[in-house]
Amino acid sequence: MKWEKLLKDGLTGPLTLVIMDGIGFSERREGNAVADAHTPHLDWLLAHCPHGLLKAHGTAVGLPSDKDMGNSEVGHNAMGAGRIYAQGARLVNEAIETGRLFQGKTWRHLMDYCRENNGTLHFIGLFSDGNVHSHLDHLRAMLERAALVEKIPRGRIHILLDGRDVGETSALEYVDPFEAYLQDLNSRAGVDYRIASGGGRMAVTMDRYEADWSMVARGWETHVAGRGRTFRSAREAIETYRREIPGIIDQDLPPFVIADDQGPVGPIRDGDSVIFFNFRGDRAIEISRAFEEENFDKFQRDPYPKVAYAGMMEYDGDLHIPRSYLVEPPHIEKTVSELLCAQGIRQLAISETQKFGHVTYFWNGNRSGKFDPELEEYVEVPSDQVPFEERPWMKAAEITDRVVEEIRGGRFDFMRLNFANGDMVGHTGIYQAAHIAVEAVDLCLGRIMRAVREAGGMLLVTADHGNAEEMYELDKKTGEVKRHADGTPKAKTSHSLNPVWFLVYEPSGKLQVRFDPEVPDPGLTNIAATCMQILGVKPPDFYDPPLLLFAAS
Ligand code: 3PG
Ligand code: CO
Repeated sequence: MKWEKLLKDGLTGPLTLVIMDGIGFSERREGNAVADAHTPHLDWLLAHCPHGLLKAHGTAVGLPSDKDMGNSEVGHNAMGAGRIYAQGARLVNEAIETGRLFQGKTWRHLMDYCRENNGTLHFIGLFSDGNVHSHLDHLRAMLERAALVEKIPRGRIHILLDGRDVGETSALEYVDPFEAYLQDLNSRAGVDYRIASGGGRMAVTMDRYEADWSMVARGWETHVAGRGRTFRSAREAIETYRREIPGIIDQDLPPFVIADDQGPVGPIRDGDSVIFFNFRGDRAIEISRAFEEENFDKFQRDPYPKVAYAGMMEYDGDLHIPRSYLVEPPHIEKTVSELLCAQGIRQLAISETQKFGHVTYFWNGNRSGKFDPELEEYVEVPSDQVPFEERPWMKAAEITDRVVEEIRGGRFDFMRLNFANGDMVGHTGIYQAAHIAVEAVDLCLGRIMRAVREAGGMLLVTADHGNAEEMYELDKKTGEVKRHADGTPKAKTSHSLNPVWFLVYEPSGKLQVRFDPEVPDPGLTNIAATCMQILGVKPPDFYDPPLLLFAAS
């Protein structure tokens, strides 16, 4: 009997893959909201089921180095594509190092356009070295090229403060050196480049999956119209807001406009060129649509200047957003959903708004469309529009309601779902909330386990990267928890470098599952072939190998 058939025959219910976003594994207890939480179901799985750890960061998911933490884009890309692709962060580095970025037609057009119109060159993007959505090195390389080689006389930078992929109140650690850098560049090149506007990335511009267009509308007001509260410098804006709103972290800082005696220094006008310098797409698509779409109805664009616009990358490979971009994205092909569709496997992808695109668009290699609408269903449960520390349970229960119903209903062979809680609440840096977030996920896991057991299906539980298991900043050199002057731990809002669990629940016991000890360096990329194997479809040779062995009794 062929193993494919054996597995298929062994199961009477569907295969369900649970992605516990941002729930990684760390041995450290301090600041570990996963270990600290009451998680009877996870504990049971760990005690009774085959499980292992998977790499979810750095080169294992296509990032430039093992110093790069994991993130949802590369994590879901890796799970869905079954092999490692060089990711945006790496591709932009290469395009800059080889000079390819500056030789391409997009760069040339951006330069020519503002030169011919005596316009200004604008940069908008996430202002940090987090390397999840962007990297300051990329911005600096482009500024230097524009100032020293292209001799564009006027540049304006619109800075989205991070505090989510980097330290929660680290903005000035980036702003101060950058101001010094600009001053030096201005005097070396004889140009006038300045910071023109900004705000926290969760307050303006970087909304995703259409969760809240008002963020993008505020970004437009700030960067494009130059309307809003004005300050002399970014430092003054940050310090003022921090004084006025005690405890505020960078990602939430309100928008600001930089003005001098003549008024706002950098509204975007006809004849200007605009580069959105994030390489990651989810939070770059909406602002790109606002710049590019003629018939745009999400908010009133006042003004709507005629500019040359480009993104760092193509953000959506199906919808071709944006039309112009500087670096070719990874061309992720033959993802697992496509291959499963070809075999007639019926699939459900479900999450809440905040992670909906993760299990669809990222999972499918940054494509928003379906491979086969007859076989696939995508379900989005609308997310709350409140700070997630106020609702750490988020929509886990609603997602679970639907998954349980579908496990029972038998309409699908393979279901994948993402619980956003560990990650979205982990990003707030609020420990108690993260603790509750993990417990909410565990409670739902229990319900899914029961449904899987009753249906005779199989459950795989994993995560795309860590976050909630490391809620305190660690000193990079000593590995110790960083502390405030009063001794309390410094909250960490970003992801981690930790591995994630891969747990296998096959309640019937028919398949006798164990991990294949021969699989080298297991990582997220091994999940696709593992799912195919369980579903009775032979994984292609170019996929990383499946993780499991089966010996049916
Ligand atoms: C975000 O966009 O919220 C963070 O930068 C990364 O989080 P994610 O990779 O989990 O989406
Ligand atoms: Co995250």
